Amino acid sequence: MIRLLDDQDLARSLRADVRAGLTAAPKKLPPKWFYDSRGSELFEEITRLPEYYPTRTERAILTLRAPEIARITEAKTLVELGSGSSEKTRLLLDAMLGHGTLGSFVPLDVSDAALSAAVAALSDTYPGLSVSGVVGDFVRHLQHLPDGDSRMVAFLGGTIGNLEPVERASFLAGLRAVLHEGEWLLLGADLVKDPAVLVPAYDDAAGVTADFNRNVLRVINRELGADFDPSAFEHVAVWSPGPEWMEMRLRSRRDQFVRINDLDLTVEFADGEDLLTEISAKFRRDSLAGELAEAGFELRHWWTDPRSWFGLALAQVAHR
Ligand code: SAH
Ligand code: TRP
Repeated sequence: MIRLLDDQDLARSLRADVRAGLTAAPKKLPPKWFYDSRGSELFEEITRLPEYYPTRTERAILTLRAPEIARITEAKTLVELGSGSSEKTRLLLDAMLGHGTLGSFVPLDVSDAALSAAVAALSDTYPGLSVSGVVGDFVRHLQHLPDGDSRMVAFLGGTIGNLEPVERASFLAGLRAVLHEGEWLLLGADLVKDPAVLVPAYDDAAGVTADFNRNVLRVINRELGADFDPSAFEHVAVWSPGPEWMEMRLRSRRDQFVRINDLDLTVEFADGEDLLTEISAKFRRDSLAGELAEAGFELRHWWTDPRSWFGLALAQVAHR
């Protein structure tokens, strides 16, 4: 495994993010800190919840379309960003190996634990494939991806929606910059739909998502010597119709002070005050095609499920 992030980098950026986020108004935290080993396990549990439609919908699209994707792209290398367990990616690997072009798979994730487990399991299933995991940040480390001449980059699960719009634009442009003309981006994007479907997907009856959301507080307690009481924060998921995204927040159940020892910082939360932990933007085909074009990608194929709940975009690096 290649580690572009060691424990020291992680500690340094966690400290910077927590200090900036908890002293900002309104308070917020970047979502990548959910995913310690417990967080990654909780996310896998989310993907199996009855309310959480994105994973099974995207899997259904991939099941139907993977052979076409293999034929169209003829990629030799598959890179996957925010790969997590790479469970759905097996559909692509099967199709691309079946087509006879694929030689290597490069999953990249910020979570060492999730990535190590995935690489071990994939190497086991696909002994003939070169699988090389990269522990890294897809916002900061795209320049360090292995070079190639016939790559497809998969970014699945709707994770693109977890980036803020400005970050998303620079992410796409940065990705374009490290790819060569003709290479491919396979992008899974969750689509705008009835909030009655959206909200429960981020606020399930069993409380797994609530537990996942609060996990970020446990990460900060452990890594930065903080004394958050996770039970003093309520999980809140709201649909924001203007920007068309879901917002996940942790709402303080009382007036309280939280001490973050390693930052020598004390943060006050008022009763009912929200800490924004994540956005999950929902997309429309045309505006997404526009964003891709802006970054230098041409949308070549667009697949959805029968209810148009989830979109899978296959885009190609355009001629400059
Ligand atoms: N692709 C999987 C997992 C999605 S969950 C699926 O579709 O089910 C989001 C994944 O992105 C997690 O594994 C998390 O660890 C990873 N992640 C989040 N922010 C990241 C970042 N900035 N850089 C790299 N990986 C990140
Ligand atoms: N990429 C996933 C999504 O936006 C991540 C996610 C699912 C998530 N459920 C969550 C993040 C709850 C924070 C809270 O759908």
